[in-house]
Formats: sequence, structure tokens, C-alpha cells
Amino acid sequence: MEPPFVNRVVELYWLRDWASGFRYVPLYIYGPEGCGKTRLLKEFVRRFREYFGDDGVALYIDATEGIDLDKALLTSPGVELVMDVVRGLVSGFINEGVGRALTRVATLIIEKALRTRLNGKYVLLAVDDVVKSMGINNVEWYIKWLYEFMQKFMSEYGPRAVNVIATTSEGESLKLLFRHNYLVTRLIWNLNRESFRDLYLPLKPPSWLDFDEVWTLLGGNPRALWELAMAFNWDLTAYRNSVVERLAPIVDEVKGRGLVKELIEVVNDPDAIHRDSNARLIELGDLLIRNNLIIYKWVSTIGNASIPKDPELGIGEYYAWQLPIYRAIIKQLLR
Ligand SMILES: Nc1ncnc2c1ncn2[C@@H]1O[C@H](COP(=O)(O)OP(=O)(O)O)[C@@H](O)[C@H]1O
Ligand SMILES: [Mg+2]
Repeated sequence: MEPPFVNRVVELYWLRDWASGFRYVPLYIYGPEGCGKTRLLKEFVRRFREYFGDDGVALYIDATEGIDLDKALLTSPGVELVMDVVRGLVSGFINEGVGRALTRVATLIIEKALRTRLNGKYVLLAVDDVVKSMGINNVEWYIKWLYEFMQKFMSEYGPRAVNVIATTSEGESLKLLFRHNYLVTRLIWNLNRESFRDLYLPLKPPSWLDFDEVWTLLGGNPRALWELAMAFNWDLTAYRNSVVERLAPIVDEVKGRGLVKELIEVVNDPDAIHRDSNARLIELGDLLIRNNLIIYKWVSTIGNASIPKDPELGIGEYYAWQLPIYRAIIKQLLR
């Protein structure tokens, strides 16, 4: 079950424009967990025929799927896969899980399993959540490999364009990939307040619940809202407790490393990580980034919208808390 899709107009427009030409390097999209990367990619692939007519050929792969081949793959309307060929290709890697096997053979699926000719087409391959699937140690070669595929594919198959998108929530991977010029990195952010409300209202929240409070805690994150509604039946206290359970061991680790003073600084201003090249703040920053609590944000967004600084939501100029509620819970745990 999925909530009705809201907004992302600018992002879809930007992606469409981007896929309309050969962009030479893979597009690496990253953003907070649950901000809507997967949903955006899937909606983009579903609209591919609308955008490019019968010349549009898009394949989406969910790299984290465990067992279900059909769930892990999505093709744009009008494009079919020969599933026996796909099964044959993944069979060599299948003990690694379906999603990971598919990421290994993603380019071969494009070359061998699509029931369509590729010359003159707008071809798109989207591999979702590459770092979770391939591991941080493999992401560099994987993106480089996708880059090489693009060059080879362009000259061998004569498409109008071939492009590749990879996504991740793992901010840790950025440090590795920023060093290379064989990719373009773009950020996607949580929904803005208006779109968040458009998502909120159809979910039929109880009348006593205050939208402003939900916004202040979840900061436009659609997955967090969906969880609050579906898994917690709008019970904010139970939702808070689940966040406490997730954060308590991390706060314990911070205490163990003697970084409490620094954590208070970062709770008050995420950009503190970045200031003064202070080794202790950098150590804390790495820990918070690795645990997907903080994210680097000084990167152009898909669609070029800016994400303004917002101290109330924990959004700085360079870094931001992925969800505002993390700060509130950390404050509570430090008390
Ligand atoms: N623009 C949107 N409109 C409606 N629901 C959305 C939107 N973006 C994300 N969602 C929903 O929020 C949840 C998390 O989104 P997802 O794309 O899985 O996040 P991510 O891949 O960034 O972790 C999903 O249930 C998804 O359907
Ligand atoms: Mg995702």
C-alpha cells in the first residue's frame, strides 16, 4: 500500500530533462532516509512513456529486495523483460539475495533481457539503494562500472541517450564518491510544508492532532508520517518511544567516547560539525552521519530548489538533522 503521490513536480521535470540527453556520467541521488527517493524513481519510470513515447525504455531495480524478483524490478509502460533471461542472469549470484544479484547483472539485463531494440531509444537504468546492497566498500567500483557501461552502451547500441541513476541514504558514501569525476551527485530533500500537508490530510489524522506539531517533529519526511499513521495509529508517544529505542544506543556510544559536549553543540546547530576542523566534532559528525541522523546538504538538489536554513527543524547551511525529532529525543536522553 502506498499513499497518493504528492508534488515532486520540479524533480520530475528536472529528471525528464536530464534523461532526454546522454549525460555521460551516472547521477547519484542521495537524501534523508524516507524522504521519497524510491517513490520518485518509480513514479519517474512509470511516466517514462508519457515523456518519451515508445522510444522510452526505463528499468528500475530495487537493490535491497531479498527474495521476490518481480518486486525488485519495474519497467516503464510498454517495455517487457524476458524473465527467463533475467532468471538465468541472476542465478549465478542468487545466494546474495535477489536485489544484490540484480545490481550485479543490471547492465546485462538492459543488454540481453529487454524485449525491445535499443537503437534510437532513450534508455534509463535506475538502481535504487546501491550502498545498502553493495556495501560501502564496493560503491566506488560499482559507480565506476556503471559509468563505463554508459560509454560502451552508447557506442555499441546507438541509443538516443543512455543514462544511469543510483540512489542512497548513506551519507558516508559521499566522502568516497566526491573524490571522483565519473558521477554527478544531487540531493533530494523531505517534502516542503505544503506538500507534507497534502500527504497528511488524506491519511485522515485524528482531529485532536496538531499538524504543526507533526511538521515540527517530522520535518516533511513522508516515511515518518506514513509510519506514524499506519504503524503507530497516530500515537505520537508510542512513535517517540520507538525513536528513543533507536537512539539510546547511539547516545550511549557518544557518552562512551566522551563526546557529549560536542553532541549538545550539534543538537543546537548541525553546522557545528563543520566548524573549526575540531577533531572531536569531526569524530562525532562521522558517527552521526554513519547512523543516518545527520546529512551533508551543501549539494545542488534535483530541480535546483534550495533548502533554506531552518534552525527550528535542525537544518543548517551545510548539514542537517534528517528528522527534527532526533534532536528532541537526544536532548531528552542527555537530560
Ligand atoms: N511524493 C510523495 N508522495 C506520497 N508519498 C510519498 C512521496 N514520497 C515518498 N512517499 C512515501 O513515503 C514512504 C517513503 O518513501 P521512499 O521513497 O521509500 O523513501 P526513500 O527511498 O527516500 O527512503 C513511502 O511509503 C512512499 O510511498
Ligand atoms: Mg528507498
